[in-house]
Amino acid sequence: MGVPENRMRRLRTSEMMRRLVREVSVGVDDLVYPLFVRKGRGLKEPIASMAGCYHFSPDTIAHEAAEVAALGIPAILLFGLPETKDEMGSEAWAPDGVVHTAIREIRNVCPDLLIITDVCLCAYTDTGHCGIVTDGKVDNDRTCELLAKMAVSHARAGADIVAPSDMMDGRIGVIRQALEAEGFEDKAIMSYAAKYASAFYGPFRDVADSAPTFGDRRTYQMDPANSDEAMREIALDVEEGADIIMVKPALCFLDVVYRARQEFDLPLAAYFVSGEYMMLHAAAKAGLLDLEQAMMESLTSLKRAGADILITYFAKDAAKRLK
Ligand code: PBG
Repeated sequence: MGVPENRMRRLRTSEMMRRLVREVSVGVDDLVYPLFVRKGRGLKEPIASMAGCYHFSPDTIAHEAAEVAALGIPAILLFGLPETKDEMGSEAWAPDGVVHTAIREIRNVCPDLLIITDVCLCAYTDTGHCGIVTDGKVDNDRTCELLAKMAVSHARAGADIVAPSDMMDGRIGVIRQALEAEGFEDKAIMSYAAKYASAFYGPFRDVADSAPTFGDRRTYQMDPANSDEAMREIALDVEEGADIIMVKPALCFLDVVYRARQEFDLPLAAYFVSGEYMMLHAAAKAGLLDLEQAMMESLTSLKRAGADILITYFAKDAAKRLK
């Protein structure tokens, strides 16, 4: 059978028709909004490398969180910038650390909003590496212990979900055991399970002041050439107790999102990272594309590939557009 029996265009004749037959859609329930917090009061400083993003202090981030919650977005992802960095990254687990203070302030204002915290040492160590460095090398196993301390401290401050982004081997198991041992058996772990050593984190490293002072992250983050390995990374995290798995970045790794969807039945997150976000912003600013359309098309592609959860700096814009 050919034309005229089969005319694919019949189902595209109007927006109503397209809506009726649409296979996937982006919903406000899918969104997670990342936020950056540093010490101080009354801060809302625009971040030069990331359009529409700010450095907040714990008091102002609570207002921002309330706005996010009012848009119907279910969760925020918190990144902290410590006052001081040191060899161990010790501000990462200080009970009065900037993330801990922010969690408590946000909780006062937004009792129901899910608070996810990034668990990684790179913003806290003086080397800018995601773990502590011994003899010029990131010490995997000692780092896992510190990450567990950090995760427990976030749970104690009131975080709902901890999200390790460090890519140390075995850290999900160590964190899971520590949470259980401290009575936080209900806290979820969203694991950055397949996180690639990507050029698309560029704008973020400016934001978090977390670029490594020597070397790079290619010994612990994944090689962009590999997707079989991503399945092994995810399988290990699932075995060790992850509740939600993540692929990061998103657009260059849609095949990995798709494979993860086929091979695992856990909730799957895709992180649309800073460089992907700013790539669209820069192109729109240059008059090359329509930002809103490019945003929705990108987010839709993540859903089509199989992601359930979209972590994106566009979350507020997308939520407004979806209203
Ligand atoms: C920390 C971390 C990074 C991002 C999230 N957590 C940076 C990195 O690994 O260098 C990147 C987020 C983004 O680019 O939006 N390890």
